Amino acid sequence: MALLEGRTAIVTGAGRGLGRAYAIMLAKHGANVVVNDLGSSAAGDGADTTPAEEVVSEIEKLGGKAVINTADVSNWQAAQDMVAQAVDTFGSLEILVNNAGIIRDRMLVNMSEDEWDSVTRVHLKGTFAPLHHAANYWRVRSKGGETFDASVINTTSHSALFANIGQTNYAAAKAGIATMTVVAARELARFGVRLNAIAPRAQTRMTEGLRQLTEEQVRRRQPEWIATLVAYLASEDAKAINGRVFEAWGFGYSVIESWQHGPRMDAALDPTEIGEELNKIVRFARPNAGIDRDSWLDP
Ligand SMILES: NC(=O)c1ccc[n+]([C@@H]2O[C@H](COP(=O)([O-])OP(=O)(O)OC[C@H]3O[C@@H](n4cnc5c(N)ncnc54)[C@H](O)[C@@H]3O)[C@@H](O)[C@H]2O)c1
Repeated sequence: MALLEGRTAIVTGAGRGLGRAYAIMLAKHGANVVVNDLGSSAAGDGADTTPAEEVVSEIEKLGGKAVINTADVSNWQAAQDMVAQAVDTFGSLEILVNNAGIIRDRMLVNMSEDEWDSVTRVHLKGTFAPLHHAANYWRVRSKGGETFDASVINTTSHSALFANIGQTNYAAAKAGIATMTVVAARELARFGVRLNAIAPRAQTRMTEGLRQLTEEQVRRRQPEWIATLVAYLASEDAKAINGRVFEAWGFGYSVIESWQHGPRMDAALDPTEIGEELNKIVRFARPNAGIDRDSWLDP
């Protein structure tokens, strides 16, 4: 039996880039797929149904089952309708891949209100809205006495986890998604729902031209390397994996370990008394991980 036989997936932002590779990989392994894509520019302007249509026909050519959905994932009602569409079309929903995203980079002092609002809306609300409606669907199934394994895969970013400059809007949204994933994993486990997040590194229109790459570096940035991990996490075989954040690209997969409690001192009520000890625990604490040579460059 195929890895994802009998399971239905929604993949948001599946018209191109990573989402397209996820949708095709899930379908190849037996899942029915709702191919969602608004068809906007990388900055979130405009709309076009062509990318999603092309992915649906590509899946059908491979003998898989897919339907198109062109909703803006940050639209509350449209997100609810998308969940309903999956259930009405294929009879159930087991997989939600929140991948749609846009980028509007700017140094903090120059960032406009609209650049902040649009990026946080598409990423944060665009993840929460489908998740909320899917979770309510799973809650009803679970309360009805059904046992099942549902899997949500959210998308975070190195920009968020390792604090890239020039991306306060994007990094804040993607860090919010990482934490949302862990909170929701704890809340929804009792309904049979698992959530994990991926920080991908891939060559797509979002990252094209950022730096000069060798042939091997381009090869290892193909979205398919990440789609493999998405498909496994989406499957029942991964039912022991919940509330985790992964880095993924063609050079490997790793688990990102979360914020940890560090060195501590006693609290005080007089601010003039704490300086010496506070500076000491900061010196003892491990520095924040950064997007530096060691963590960022290819092996
Ligand atoms: N490419 C990378 O290296 C990288 C790194 C870290 C995170 N990411 C994240 O991975 C995800 C996919 O990025 P990509 O590189 O494939 O980019 P992409 O621009 O190729 O694809 C994003 C897709 O999302 C769609 N989309 C945008 N806003 C939407 C909305 N409101 N509703 C529905 N669809 C919408 C776009 O039409 C587009 O097809 C994004 O969340 C991105 O932030 C990518």
